[in-house]
Amino acid sequence: MRVLSGIQPTGRFHWGNYFGAIQQYIDLQHEHTGYYFIANLHALTTIREPELLRQLTRDAALDLLALGLDPDKATLFVQSDVPEVSQLTWILMTCTPLGLLERCHAFKEKKARGLTADAGLFTYPVLMAADILAYDANWVPVGQDQVQHIEVCRDLATSFNHHFAEVFVLPEARLLSNAAKVPGTDGEKMSKSYDNTIGIFEDPKQVRKKIMRMPTDSRAMEEPKDPDTDHLYQLFQLFGSPSEVQEMAELYRRGGFGYGQIKKSLADAAERYFSEAHARRNELANRPDTVDDILRAGAKRAREQASTVLERVEQACGITAN
Ligand code: ADP
Ligand code: TRP
Repeated sequence: MRVLSGIQPTGRFHWGNYFGAIQQYIDLQHEHTGYYFIANLHALTTIREPELLRQLTRDAALDLLALGLDPDKATLFVQSDVPEVSQLTWILMTCTPLGLLERCHAFKEKKARGLTADAGLFTYPVLMAADILAYDANWVPVGQDQVQHIEVCRDLATSFNHHFAEVFVLPEARLLSNAAKVPGTDGEKMSKSYDNTIGIFEDPKQVRKKIMRMPTDSRAMEEPKDPDTDHLYQLFQLFGSPSEVQEMAELYRRGGFGYGQIKKSLADAAERYFSEAHARRNELANRPDTVDDILRAGAKRAREQASTVLERVEQACGITAN
């Protein structure tokens, strides 16, 4: 199968991004043909500081590589390095009913909050459809919030195929992971919008501090507790080995422990879990040319694919002579 996904460089990646998305990209690269990109054009709908966007795009590439995305297995690239996608976006836009975009959540929510939306946010799902269709992707691993966009993509592809010719492969959303909701430092869903994140590459000392400050329930130490409803345990589950997790669950059920001890175990486990990636990232950061080469090679492969699709599309709708 051909698997494709994009991730926006709108902040440094956090534990939720890793367990909710990035880990799956890395797992899927072994069995499938993978296309993964850093969605800087989409990020432009929220980031309007050029240096910041450049830096976050670069950080995203380093992070993904350090975490194990293998450029020999999957194609890693930056969205804007494939101009064919923007060309395809325009063509798709000419076949996109306004009503379809008006129903999309991101736009609807912004409007409902009385904020002014620009055409970029409104047509965001068309760019996303072009991202997917340009690579003949079969599977698109995304979080629940993106499923509607995949539906829009399928609608556009189906109606284009119907009106002109069968040029597009219909993609399917693959819902990402059972870690669908990694809790943040306040116990709510970890998200950069809630300021409750722990960064994958944050300084371990800082991470430890954040964990130590996390709120816990105020029941007496002796009382047995249900591990499954506790956010510290939910986080520990992501990092601990099966036997460590089982031991931790037993400790909760027995009671008689202090949360300080749990927090320390969580901080230790998380530090161990990401230590190799930290080392790899430091090493890669000293070799900026290597990262440039990887992104350049990825963009080249991606462009080759996207240009064959664009050619099919242009033929079908009469943009090029046949
Ligand atoms: P944020 O919520 O911080 O803005 P994004 O929306 O950019 O994060 O998410 C990028 C990817 O990470 C998406 O696929 C999303 O489903 C996943 N993700 C983000 N936060 C979490 C979380 N707390 N738990 C699980 N997955 C998450
Ligand atoms: N909109 C996606 C998000 O915010 C990112 C994205 C852009 C994407 N283009 C894509 C995801 C194409 C999958 C396929 O998470």
